[in-house]
Amino acid sequence: MESPFKAELLKGKVALLTGGASGIGYEISVQLGKHGASVAVMGRRKHVIDSAVEALRSQGISAIGFEGDVRKRDDAARVLESTLKHFGRLDILVNAAAGNFLVPSEDLSPNGFRTVIDIDAVGTFTMCHEALKYLKKGASGKNSAAGGSIINISATLHYTATWYQIHVSAAKAAVDSITRSLALEWGTDYDIRVNGIAPGPIEDTAGFSKLLPQEMLSKPKEQILVSKLGKKWDIAMAALYLSSDAGKYINGTTLVVDGGEWLTKPAYFPKEAVKQLSRAVERRSRDKPVGVAKSKL
Ligand code: COA
Repeated sequence: MESPFKAELLKGKVALLTGGASGIGYEISVQLGKHGASVAVMGRRKHVIDSAVEALRSQGISAIGFEGDVRKRDDAARVLESTLKHFGRLDILVNAAAGNFLVPSEDLSPNGFRTVIDIDAVGTFTMCHEALKYLKKGASGKNSAAGGSIINISATLHYTATWYQIHVSAAKAAVDSITRSLALEWGTDYDIRVNGIAPGPIEDTAGFSKLLPQEMLSKPKEQILVSKLGKKWDIAMAALYLSSDAGKYINGTTLVVDGGEWLTKPAYFPKEAVKQLSRAVERRSRDKPVGVAKSKL
């Protein structure tokens, strides 16, 4: 799909993406790169990083990959330092690394809960914390008027409650809170913008196939989701918007990119019945208010 943004939107910028070698993270890497940014991707699996870097370079994108686990502070520091060494600056940090699996709460061990909190929430904080010195206004030779930009990939699971996702819901609630706190502190002190993106159901992702495994479903996935499925591209466009000057006045928000999915609930009545009967119901309740004894009328 063609991007509505200009190709030079992020010209000269450098971005580091955790989880940037696969899934939604990879598509964000592609689109940041296609819009002029140099891209460093960080992940745990060497073969996944190597093939992502090869694919990015084959599209003319200046890219490099680093092995690392966001749960390890030393890995975070090393990857950030290596990114700086390689590209000379850092403008954008995207925290897209995440862990997930379906599990009823009664079967989830505290260590399983902690594992996801460690990857999503602590990992996001660790990366932000280690990146601060490079993202500050004027840091590492940056001559732009503003500081850098951070995007934390979140979810909508915790807006209500989601079956078998207690660990991820808790982790993403923490991520959203981190987004707001850092936006407040670092936006004020260092002119760094910190925002989030909460994707809805996005087709062709590990998250989607893990969370809605076909073999556990009684109907095809498409019939279970009330709203449309999104594409990785939709999330990448939101990342371009938030990380570029198009979003320069946006700080501390988590942009929901889900086609309205989290708001969706089944209608109690068919629309036609409401159109026909609504006024009759109103008239009836005006004539005989519910809960008022007949003798008092
Ligand atoms: N159900 C219940 N518990 C599970 C589980 C599952 N499906 N998968 C892992 N766990 C528990 C383990 O039992 C363990 O707890 P324990 O020590 O009490 O037994 C704990 O989680 C850690 O598991 P481990 O396999 O050692 O962790 P890991 O660091 O190797 O894996 C995960 C991390 C669990 C998040 C793994 O699913 C992962 O890395 N996935 C890839 C990323 C991903 O999911 N991306 C999708 C993003 S939406």
